[in-house]
Amino acid sequence: MRVLVTGGAGFIGANFVHWTRAHRPDVEVVVLDALTYAADGSSLGSARDEVELVHGDIADNALVDRLVKDADQVFHFAAETHNDNSLADPSPFVHTNVVGTFSLLEAVRRHGVRLHHVSTDEVYGDLELDDPARFTEATPYNPSSPYSATKAGSDLLVRAWVRSFGISATISNCSNNYGPYQHVEKFIPRQITNVIDGIAPKLYGDGLNVRDWIHVDDHNAAVWTIAEKGRSGETYLIGADGEQTNRDVVSAVLRELGQPEDAYELVRDRPGHDRRYAIDSSKLRGELGWRPTYADFSSGLRATIAWYRDNQDWWRPQKAATEAKYAQLNQ
Ligand code: NAD
Ligand code: TYD
Repeated sequence: MRVLVTGGAGFIGANFVHWTRAHRPDVEVVVLDALTYAADGSSLGSARDEVELVHGDIADNALVDRLVKDADQVFHFAAETHNDNSLADPSPFVHTNVVGTFSLLEAVRRHGVRLHHVSTDEVYGDLELDDPARFTEATPYNPSSPYSATKAGSDLLVRAWVRSFGISATISNCSNNYGPYQHVEKFIPRQITNVIDGIAPKLYGDGLNVRDWIHVDDHNAAVWTIAEKGRSGETYLIGADGEQTNRDVVSAVLRELGQPEDAYELVRDRPGHDRRYAIDSSKLRGELGWRPTYADFSSGLRATIAWYRDNQDWWRPQKAATEAKYAQLNQ
């Protein structure tokens, strides 16, 4: 079996390649990645020798056609993914997330190749802190930011291509991921690396926003489960019951790194900041039998902190420029 992994040099995609090599050793992997600021070829590590890495844009129709034609399955991770960047300049989000997904859809339609589209729970908007509800596959789309709106658009394109053109595709919407190889612009790596550098962690607003955390390996195991056992045209929500306030996450990072747990700073809030995300993953668990292996967020977080402490060569080149960008926003 030969799979095409778009965005395989990014955070989740690179971890997906490692997971695939460990658990599906017979699968041949081709990565298509534009190698934007968010990518790092070194995240593929030893996999670089066994994986073909094609440097290119998912909106390049001719290139995508050639790569899709030779694949049995496409795993579509490539995207612009950071909400704060989407507020500063939405244009690459529309290009990659919407136009790029369109280009892939046309190629899988031409060649009859199955697609798994990787998406986010942010397409559903947000929940109040005291709302007992969680997102399900039936929750109406209500995205807040240019990032989540373009991901919502890409999901709807996939659904329409299934219904109108009969392509074979599955969709997953996952909650916030953490783990190794995540860019230091994102919340957890930013705060870990700040504390390592003696900088106070920065909490937006009152720091009480809630995210539902899942280890990246659990996400990727679920993606394989859905691709292998899921029904075409279906959406599956992926989550590991990991709701935490941002303040609690930062306090845990500070504690683990030997600092007072309130040694953080409250900074300017993100415009339109979603209050809370929470996933009900009963469909995935009940129909396909998936279960997370990192049920305990604190042990997964501890392992992630250790990874950033031990792999400073990986993140240091990005750190100063990332913090300079945040400083301009007073964040
Ligand atoms: P990331 O930003 O770390 O990586 C994205 C990758 O896509 C990078 O390697 C980048 O170079 C590549 N890319 C960007 N534009 C491209 C283009 N035009 N053509 C080809 N490649 C391009 O993102 P991530 O966190 O690994 O997210 C991967 C996917 O998972 C995204 O679709 C995202 O929406 C989804 N997702 C992420 C999370 C999360 O918590 N990070 C949660 C749920 C879903
Ligand atoms: P982020 O990692 O950007 O993911 P998302 O916006 O997709 O959920 O942010 C996670 C949460 O952390 C979100 O509520 C915003 C907040 N946040 C901070 O409080 N400080 C920070 O420095 C960053 C980057 C995010």
